[in-house]
Amino acid sequence: MAYKIAIIVGSLREGSINRKVARSICALRDDNLDCSMIEIGDLPLYNQDLDSDPPEPWTRFRHKVGEADGVLFCSPEYNRGIPGVLKNAIDVGSRPYGKSVFDKKPAAIVTASPGGIGGFGANHQIRQAGVFLNMPMMQQPEAYLGHVTDDSFDADGRLKEGPLKGLIEVLAHAFHDWVHMIHESRRLLAEDSAHAARAREHV
Ligand SMILES: Cc1cc2nc3c(=O)[nH]c(=O)nc-3n(C[C@H](O)[C@H](O)[C@H](O)COP(=O)(O)O)c2cc1C
Repeated sequence: MAYKIAIIVGSLREGSINRKVARSICALRDDNLDCSMIEIGDLPLYNQDLDSDPPEPWTRFRHKVGEADGVLFCSPEYNRGIPGVLKNAIDVGSRPYGKSVFDKKPAAIVTASPGGIGGFGANHQIRQAGVFLNMPMMQQPEAYLGHVTDDSFDADGRLKEGPLKGLIEVLAHAFHDWVHMIHESRRLLAEDSAHAARAREHV
């Protein structure tokens, strides 16, 4: 069974390397990851006053993330932190209070940059939000992808052969296994609870 994955890219740039990385991860696991890019560029800035009558793009975004089995964040780092557009999307999805669409969703974070430290700062700021949002976040492999440039991809946007492609393959497999483990554990726990409840009825 393919898991539905909401991919949220923290760059609005047409030729974004992070978008290409996201596509590569999906292409490598297209048999068991059913990926959709969830666009965030049209989300009005989060304003709690609007929660009583939310703008349509907020509702659409919340619905799309809400129906996913997992979330993959692929983002650049801006000034050592989360790009504003991504933070806004996280804030929109997290509200109204108690109705966060991120709650309990297994997730992973990938940051890619032409720079050497691979968006480490942004990666950990997303991770920090994920802690509060109660998202089981894949721990390993960590994905601070440094020295990623347009030259890392061919004319069709596919990763060229090399160490980066090898790392992305490892990541794609690990992410699938992570999502599967979380959902399978919950299914087994629910089965156990149902079994225990039936056993109590027959005492
Ligand atoms: C406003 C801004 C701030 C940036 N800050 C950082 C940074 O802190 N660290 C970094 O590695 N790269 C930084 N960069 C460079 C980006 O990593 C680079 O532009 C990258 O290609 C953006 O990702 P994208 O291709 O997915 O759009 C910054 C770029 C912009 C436009």
